[in-house]
Amino acid sequence: MPTPANEFATNAPATPAASTVAPVLGDKEFEFIRHVVGVNAGIVLGPNKRQLVQGRLARRLRELGMQSYAAYCDFVREAGPEELVRLINAITTNVTAFFREKHHFDALASYMLPEALERNQASRRIRIWSAGCSTGEEAYCIAMVAAETLPAAPRWDLKILATDIDSNVISTAAQGVYPLERLSTVSEARLRRWFLKGSGELAGYARVRAQIAGLVTFRSLNLLHPWPMRGPFDVIFCRNTMIYFNQPTRERLLERFADLLVDGGYLCLGHSESIHSANGPFRLVGKTVYRKVTGGRDGG
Ligand SMILES: C[S@@+](CC[C@H](N)C(=O)[O-])C[C@H]1O[C@@H](n2cnc3c(N)ncnc32)[C@H](O)[C@@H]1O
Repeated sequence: MPTPANEFATNAPATPAASTVAPVLGDKEFEFIRHVVGVNAGIVLGPNKRQLVQGRLARRLRELGMQSYAAYCDFVREAGPEELVRLINAITTNVTAFFREKHHFDALASYMLPEALERNQASRRIRIWSAGCSTGEEAYCIAMVAAETLPAAPRWDLKILATDIDSNVISTAAQGVYPLERLSTVSEARLRRWFLKGSGELAGYARVRAQIAGLVTFRSLNLLHPWPMRGPFDVIFCRNTMIYFNQPTRERLLERFADLLVDGGYLCLGHSESIHSANGPFRLVGKTVYRKVTGGRDGG
C-alpha cells in the first residue's frame, strides 16, 4: 500500500496544467501590440511596458480561452475593428478622480467662466470639452462648478462634451453612479447639493443628480480620428491624456484644439504636460492653463 506521500507523488502532474500557467508575452507579439496600439490610439508603449501589457491583456485571453499571445495576435489580425476596440479598452490607463488637480476648477470658477459670460452675451452659449474624460469625474466636476457659477436667470445654454476612446469608461461615465469612497474628494456641501445617496441595491453608491448629469454628453471618440464637432469651445480640458502620445501626435492635437477654441479660450493640461512653443497660439497663464491668444475662430 503506498504511503500518502507516494500516492501524492504518483498522482501529481509533473508540471502544472497548461491552463493554470499565465501565457507569456513574447517579443514578436509585444512588438505587434505596440504597433497596433500606437497606430490606432496614438498610445506609445515603451519597451518597459511589457509586463503592464501582459497584465492588462491576461483577462481578455482568459475570456477567449486562449493559451498564447501568438493566438491572440492572430485573432486581432482576423477579427477586425471589434477586437481592436477591446484591445485598446484593455490597454488604456483610466486613472482619474473628482477634483483631481483642483486648481483648474478654481480657475474655471474665478476667470474662465466669468470671461465666457462676458464674451458670449449675445449667444448666451457656453461650450466646454473634456477630452480623455475616462469615467466621467472630470466632466461632472466641470458641470458642478459651472452650475454654481452661472447665474440662474436669465438662463445660459451650457453644454459639456466628454469623450474618450475607451467605450467601457464612457458607459460607466454615462451612468453617473460612483462608490462613496470615490467621492472622498468632493466637499460635503457639493455631495448634498449634487448627488443622491443610493439605498437598497445602490447602498454604498451615489448618483450624480439629473441637473448636473443633464449638462454632460458622453461620447466615444478617438482623438486621432476626425472630430464631428465644430466648436468653438470656451474651455478644453485634455488632462493626463497627451502624455501617452508621441511628440508629433501631441503637436498635431494642440493645433486641432487651437482650431476649435474661441480666441481667449482656455486649454487645461495635466500636471506633467506642457506646451513648449512660444510662437504658437497658446500662452501659459496659470498652472498648466493655456490661453489661446491668436487664431481665426470667432467667439459666441
Ligand atoms: C489617465 S486618463 C485621464 C482622465 C482625466 N482627464 C483626468 O485627468 O483625470 C486618460 C484617458 O485618455 C484616454 N485616451 C487614451 N488615448 C486616447 C485617444 N487616442 N483618444 C481619446 N482618448 C484617449 C484613455 O482611455 C483614458 O481614459
